[in-house]
Amino acid sequence: MSLSQIAKSITASPTLALNAKFAALRQKGEAVIHLGGGEPKSKAPMDAILPLKEHLDTREIRYTPAAGIPALKDAIIKYTENFYNRKVERGNVVAASGAKHALILSLQAILNPKDEVIFPVPYWVSYPDMVKICGANPINAIPADGSYYPSIGDIEKKISEQTKAVIINSPNNPSGAVYSEKFISDIIQFCEKKDLYLIFDDIYHRLVFDGRKPINPYDYTKIFNDKSKLILVNGVSKSYAMTGFRIGWAVTNTQIIKAMTNIQGHQTSGPSVLLQKAAIGAINGEQSGVEELRKTLEKNRDIMMELLNSFEGVEVTKPDGTFYCFADFSAFEKDSNKLSNFLIDEAKVLTVPGAEFGMEGFLRLSYCGSVEDITEGIQRIKNVLLK
Ligand SMILES: Cc1ncc(COP(=O)(O)O)c(C=O)c1O
Repeated sequence: MSLSQIAKSITASPTLALNAKFAALRQKGEAVIHLGGGEPKSKAPMDAILPLKEHLDTREIRYTPAAGIPALKDAIIKYTENFYNRKVERGNVVAASGAKHALILSLQAILNPKDEVIFPVPYWVSYPDMVKICGANPINAIPADGSYYPSIGDIEKKISEQTKAVIINSPNNPSGAVYSEKFISDIIQFCEKKDLYLIFDDIYHRLVFDGRKPINPYDYTKIFNDKSKLILVNGVSKSYAMTGFRIGWAVTNTQIIKAMTNIQGHQTSGPSVLLQKAAIGAINGEQSGVEELRKTLEKNRDIMMELLNSFEGVEVTKPDGTFYCFADFSAFEKDSNKLSNFLIDEAKVLTVPGAEFGMEGFLRLSYCGSVEDITEGIQRIKNVLLK
């Protein structure tokens, strides 16, 4: 069968096969532990559920404007003012089906075939394939100092005639690193000077630890008008534990928003009105659940660190936020896919191979699950690797 070049360039994630193994084992009644999760386990806020139910009861579930209903745009405007101290208009906002869709819409709005998009390593697993879907080329920027914290020099080295955009994700999936204010300031000024798009994936911004405050990219921008090429992406998935609602958004200049809206209009016609109502409820509602979640994750992070720090052979950097850590297991096995498969087979613990995030020999371990799962999961990994 003849598939498109683009379809052929997108590879199946090995994690899907690991997840399938996990599901098969669970179905057989095995006590498998998932340390590969990407979503908080807390319940969605009632402030999200009630307006959704109310709208459902009208039985008039219709199309909405492609960029989202005005009330959701207003909620996003309020969110942007509260958390980013930035006043934007409805024309600067597009709601999409998750931050993921907002990210790919941004890329589709700005990229031409053969353009290059740079992002630091380790990176979120979807960036390279999203760029490839646009016919463009993903470019990895590996921090020269061997840390998870890039410097502007690491990005500068990768710039070419074809560079169109940089993607920054901090707090970072998979490392949990919050990039330094210096780096954020440098990269924003660098992109403004070089006239590059900067996609700022801020989906974990409220899940930061040790008294950190979320870093606000707008604190460092010099271009404030409609010429700004900063695209801020966020959503309700992680902070409000609403991954299944699939609502995210982008805030940027009106031209990009128009382009994204046109594309979305032909792709999905916009997110479901029910889920938009739920997102409005979450954004405008009681916020204490976010802080509760953040505190739980910080406690879980501490437990995970204690367990890994006493795990001989494993190297790990303490995460500053998110609910992931990215640990170096290369002393045991350099091929991370092989190691993940070994751990699901022998320890019945699911981990995500570092290769998915651009680094071999590493595993991403999540601490968004229960303390029991974290403790038992790491113990089982120790049992099979240290014997
Ligand atoms: C770095 C990063 N960006 C974006 C997303 C997508 O979030 P959403 O569920 O809103 O599509 C994720 C989800 O795992 C993520 O880790």
